[in-house]
Amino acid sequence: MQFIDLLLQHRSIRKFTTQAIEQDLLERLLMAGQAAATSSFAQAYSLIRITEGTTRDKLADLCGNQAYVAQCAEFFVCCADLARNQTICQQSGISSDPGYMEQFIIATVDTSLMAQNMVIAAESEGLGTCYIGGIRNNPQEVSDLLQLPDFVYPVFGLCLGYPAQDPESKPRLPLPLWVMENNYLENLIPDEIKQYDKDVSEYYKTRTGNKKSTSWTEQMEGFLSKESRPHMLEFLQARGLAKR
Ligand SMILES: Cc1cc2nc3c(=O)[nH]c(=O)nc-3n(C[C@H](O)[C@H](O)[C@H](O)COP(=O)(O)O)c2cc1C
Repeated sequence: MQFIDLLLQHRSIRKFTTQAIEQDLLERLLMAGQAAATSSFAQAYSLIRITEGTTRDKLADLCGNQAYVAQCAEFFVCCADLARNQTICQQSGISSDPGYMEQFIIATVDTSLMAQNMVIAAESEGLGTCYIGGIRNNPQEVSDLLQLPDFVYPVFGLCLGYPAQDPESKPRLPLPLWVMENNYLENLIPDEIKQYDKDVSEYYKTRTGNKKSTSWTEQMEGFLSKESRPHMLEFLQARGLAKR
């Protein structure tokens, strides 16, 4: 398969077989993650591999009862991490101040690029993946459970495992709605949005599992009109992050 075709076939997997991921493959996935570009060469992330069943169960609960967190072969908590670099600076007698918004952005972007490399590598080996933003439902409890220090926060969880389902890929926005030339296009193209809403509604109506009746615009109303995880700003700042 062409590499681009692999990317185009992506879909999140939420049901996994019990087959374990071989240690060699796991290490290669981790190295693929680490090979991603990293701003300022900071490598400002840490992965916590959760192997204890009880911890998995607690996390599945804290993520909003997402059973696949407990059931997948491997579950990682992907953390933005400015603590390691700070400690290294302190040990070398170099001053450091990890409370800036820009460092927070860098660490969050670094974490995401690393994880997405892992996802692509995993999919290329026949594995299924699912990001778990639900890890931010209860970030303080997760931090306590995993003993995360200040300047570290859980950005998302990541489920990996061999798929026990074969869902269809979700249609994405047509290119003219998000790829622009030279300047930002204020005028959205109503026909393109109408058509996309139809495509998404059709996808939800006809997909194999969890059929529902909604359009993309309706989903975005849910996304943008209500407060989501309002605790995050206070939580991050209490951990010493994004303070100025
Ligand atoms: C950062 C992030 C967090 C996500 N959190 C969850 C989650 O908590 N639970 C879940 O089932 N899917 C989660 N997803 C998966 C998205 O719902 C999914 O990627 C999106 O609906 C598009 O579907 P697809 O991945 O199958 O193409 C998350 C995806 C991302 C990128």
